[in-house]
Amino acid sequence: MALLLTASVLCACMRTSDQLQDETAGGADMVSRISSELVPLSTEAPAVAPTEGKTDGNAPATTDGQTTAPAETTSAKQEETTSEKATEKPTEKATEAPTEAPTQAPAAPASSGVTSKGYSIEVINGITYVGGVMIANKTYSLPSSYYPGGLTGDCSAAFSRMQSAAAGEGLNLFVLSGFRSYDTQAGLYDRYCARDGKAAADRYSARPGHSEHQTGLAIDVNSVSSDFEYTAEGQWLAANCYKYGFILRYMKGKEWATGYMYEPWHVRYVGEDLAAKIYNSGLCLEEYFGITSSYS
Ligand code: DAL
Ligand code: ZN
Repeated sequence: MALLLTASVLCACMRTSDQLQDETAGGADMVSRISSELVPLSTEAPAVAPTEGKTDGNAPATTDGQTTAPAETTSAKQEETTSEKATEKPTEKATEAPTEAPTQAPAAPASSGVTSKGYSIEVINGITYVGGVMIANKTYSLPSSYYPGGLTGDCSAAFSRMQSAAAGEGLNLFVLSGFRSYDTQAGLYDRYCARDGKAAADRYSARPGHSEHQTGLAIDVNSVSSDFEYTAEGQWLAANCYKYGFILRYMKGKEWATGYMYEPWHVRYVGEDLAAKIYNSGLCLEEYFGITSSYS
């Protein structure tokens, strides 16, 4: 046992940062192969949410350069922070059948106008805002140049508040993966496709330009394991994150709408008012706004 653990630690330590990054963002059926060897690193100290990246991604970008990337050194550090803590692949079973769509499917995508629920759709600098909220899903992509460089200030501050509240109840929440650039996502997605095939990868990993992590408004909390749902932290997150402006983005049973398998660890910052409304509706973001999430 001791020998096995030592071997596991050595194996995990030999992983490159790229491989570790790889293990944050998807990987549906890989747990049986790798989860045990990654356990040692998963006990690392939690990453503190980056505080830089001041773009308020929930407000439509102005034309005066809100999408300008911050200095390279900052961005590189932040990507490192949010990737090297990555330790585990998601454990959702790839064989699980997608849930069936209810008869009332969201309306067809529109490039501008209003959604089936009456929310405005605006495209500004190539970024889509629905009801004023930045959207990145399978239907709506971000430009490759969109590079907030880290979690937005609002998102980061909200996460810190949530982290403190959870800590007050003896729970430890931390950012496992926050901002990911277009290029980082491209690398991840390519590797998942090579490993699992495109169809499988598309169920758990976003194509470049389509990941919410590129917005700087999404966070993978603690662990990309489906077991996270059953931990005290996972249950607390699901029940309380809306109070701090976050929603669980890829809800159980909503793959037909979100386009992705259940991810109990992935939260998206939308602000406290909207998060409370969405939480109380019981709907996922796509249902709430009446938008699709599918590749054309
Ligand atoms: N795992 C989510 C869908 C992403 O790759 O952004
Ligand atoms: Zn995520």
